[in-house]
Amino acid sequence: MHDAPLRVTTPGGAYDVIIAHGALDCLPDHLNRIGLRGALWIISDDQVFPQYAPPLIERLRAAGYDVQGSTVPSGETSKDLAMVARLYDWLIGGGVERRDAVLALGGGVVGDLAGFVAATVLRGIALVHLPTTLLAMVDSAIGGKTGVNHPLGKNLIGAFHQPRLTLADTATLRTLPPRELRAGWAEVIKHAVIRDADLFVRLETIAGAEPDSLQGDALAAIIRQAARVKIDIVNADERETGERMLLNYGHTLGHAIEAASGYGDLLHGEAVAIGMHLEAQIACRMGMVEPDFVERQERLLHAWGLPTALPPALDIDDLLERTLRDKKVRAGKVRWALPLGIGSATVRDDAPETLVRAVLEEAYARSP
Ligand SMILES: NC(=O)c1ccc[n+]([C@@H]2O[C@H](COP(=O)([O-])OP(=O)(O)OC[C@H]3O[C@@H](n4cnc5c(N)ncnc54)[C@H](O)[C@@H]3O)[C@@H](O)[C@H]2O)c1
Repeated sequence: MHDAPLRVTTPGGAYDVIIAHGALDCLPDHLNRIGLRGALWIISDDQVFPQYAPPLIERLRAAGYDVQGSTVPSGETSKDLAMVARLYDWLIGGGVERRDAVLALGGGVVGDLAGFVAATVLRGIALVHLPTTLLAMVDSAIGGKTGVNHPLGKNLIGAFHQPRLTLADTATLRTLPPRELRAGWAEVIKHAVIRDADLFVRLETIAGAEPDSLQGDALAAIIRQAARVKIDIVNADERETGERMLLNYGHTLGHAIEAASGYGDLLHGEAVAIGMHLEAQIACRMGMVEPDFVERQERLLHAWGLPTALPPALDIDDLLERTLRDKKVRAGKVRWALPLGIGSATVRDDAPETLVRAVLEEAYARSP
């Protein structure tokens, strides 16, 4: 028996977020229930499509749907305008209509790309997210941000377009490469730190047992709890004017580290884990948390297989310069999402640069 669905309710749209083991089996019923009866256009990547699309297409066709599929190469490089144009050709050439829906089957790359295509083709058609990575299940498939990269920066072109449904089948995580799965746990831990102390303690308890043995309904339940944090925040602040900024915890330095190390060496979630550890130390130096908070969070990150040490040979001036180029900078001040304790966070724009520099210098002094 699956739990009651979570619900996003924003001015831009209201929809269920269904997270359950085996949820894809019930997709035709859910589409029917929400009134989607037009043709379905599945967009996926070349890793995910062969594993999950064929049985899904068969099930949807058996339920009477007209279904087509298209794949893009797996990886971040597919998130660009050239791929958007290719998908427009496929949709418009194939006779897409306003009542049709795009189904985004894959991780955050597919979700952002297919979401942007759905937001813009024919001035917007229905979108259904079918996330297959942990990051997409707890984060990118919820909240309506869609978009692609520009040569000058990540996610610089996009639109808000809420899906009509997000349906995550946690059974798909069985085939996700272990390193990708671990990177997803970084976002789960971030959600626990900023908003859900009970989730934090559950993650500590599971880590003490054996995280890799987490499966089936137990896995789905913990992912649901993490997704609820994102849903609550999005419900309060769809357009990121206030509370949604808390989701950036670990991301200001995380993005700087990711970019400075040239994308590729570190996965996004790994950079976020390092960013959370450094930003916790910023909060500690500002008197917002005690040193034992920093240690407890570091223990949890390690327990879930995540790094906390700065990669060697990054330039501190370069990292600081990159934090100033962050999208969340306003009037020249970096707005940091910082913890107040386990389960609580706030946004501060008064972290002195000398203090941030001292945290980075100390991190290097401690590294082997
Ligand atoms: N829209 C948002 O709010 C938001 C939030 C966070 C991140 N993002 C975006 O999400 C993207 C990262 O997403 P991601 O981490 O899911 O990466 P991803 O989509 O690249 O997926 C990671 C890898 O796993 C493979 N994969 C996916 N599901 C699989 C499965 N079940 N089995 C086997 N392999 C599988 C993919 O082919 C890919 O190689 C970034 O582009 C980021 O900007 C968006």
